[in-house]
Amino acid sequence: MNFNLTEEQIMIRDAARDFAKNELLPGVIERDEKQQFPAEQIKKMGELGFLGMMVDPKYGGSGLDTVSYVLAMEEISKIDASASVVMSVNNSLVCWGLETYGTEEQKQKYLVPLATGEIIGAFCLSEPEAGSDATSQKTTAIDKGDHYLLNGTKNWITNGGTASVYLVIAQTDVEKGHKGINALIVEKGMEGFAVGTKENKLGIRGSDTHSLMFTDVKIPKENRIGEDGFGFKFAMKTLAGGRIGIASQALGIASGAYELALKYSKERKAFGKEISKHQAIAFKLADMSTQIEAARMLCIKAAWEKDQKINYDLSGAMAKLYAADMAMAVTVEAVQIHGGYGFVKEYHVERLMRDAKITQIYEGTSEIQKIVISRSILQD
Ligand code: CAA
Repeated sequence: MNFNLTEEQIMIRDAARDFAKNELLPGVIERDEKQQFPAEQIKKMGELGFLGMMVDPKYGGSGLDTVSYVLAMEEISKIDASASVVMSVNNSLVCWGLETYGTEEQKQKYLVPLATGEIIGAFCLSEPEAGSDATSQKTTAIDKGDHYLLNGTKNWITNGGTASVYLVIAQTDVEKGHKGINALIVEKGMEGFAVGTKENKLGIRGSDTHSLMFTDVKIPKENRIGEDGFGFKFAMKTLAGGRIGIASQALGIASGAYELALKYSKERKAFGKEISKHQAIAFKLADMSTQIEAARMLCIKAAWEKDQKINYDLSGAMAKLYAADMAMAVTVEAVQIHGGYGFVKEYHVERLMRDAKITQIYEGTSEIQKIVISRSILQD
């Protein structure tokens, strides 16, 4: 057992920390308030290799391990969770899905620009009536010989307006249930594809969330990922890794809020001494740092398992469940430690508290993670 990070992992973590401080911190409050997508910052993240971190360099990626990705996700999320969700979706869902299951032509055409950050991608599974119950897809992709005809609506799609490439899950054969679902690569601008209005959200307000409408969109057969009927398994396998990304986002949101609370508690005085010297606050900080460390261990273990090619469905779900619930609890405490200051925008912790909430919802709610975990531990 070796808990030491490699020199390369430390370098990546420090580079992400510097980037977050220098490039993401300026303007983060205003972007949240105006729901402004961090376009310039995302472009720079692409140039630095943060959008295709684990992709093979032959497809334009950084060729790093998943542990490095977790470390970078934590640092970016400490400062700006709206930027880190773009990073998570592009890396874990879109790039990983294409690199693992795409054809060579699909990789050359789509993965290369996605991994270099030239364009960004979106992953489209959720629908107005299919969120947690993901097999109930109403979007249809009817087989028309050399193409599919795509019809339906997708909801709450991260990068919905800014993406150029969309991995869309749709039902081809209802009779076959989840075995009749396909994953298709859809390009922005295809005839019949429309982007709905941007959602006005509680948190991660700088990220770009839209519904998408498909009306008789012709998708060439070569844009299907995997065999006919592989779409649901594709979504499940992709999301298993996505959950490590979102767990790391939750970890970063919590550790960002904790670091701010720790600093504030050493500066703010009450009853003649720094508030950190009051046991009421010191014990909160003790709990917060312990919970953050536990989440970090779960995230790194899941990432390590993925790197070792060990099944990470269980460890990823555990990391996401624990880190998301922990992030919610820790950010609430960070606001509490800040008192009245915590309730105003300038101190950042109220934003982090709002941002934490989504980590309990997207890429599988906390309740869904409990389904995945309980099924796994109860199977023979
Ligand atoms: N790997 C491979 N296959 C898997 C799998 C996995 N991790 N999980 C399930 N499957 C397979 C099953 O083996 C089964 O196939 P077989 O019949 O051949 O054995 C098939 O998928 C169906 O599985 P279940 O019978 O378990 O299906 P279910 O209806 O009981 O639901 C579920 C399973 C885990 C609850 C699933 O529906 C689920 O994960 N729901 C949550 C969806 C989700 O996470 N949505 C997030 C949206 S994306 C997002 O948020 C991105 C963003 O923008 C940030």
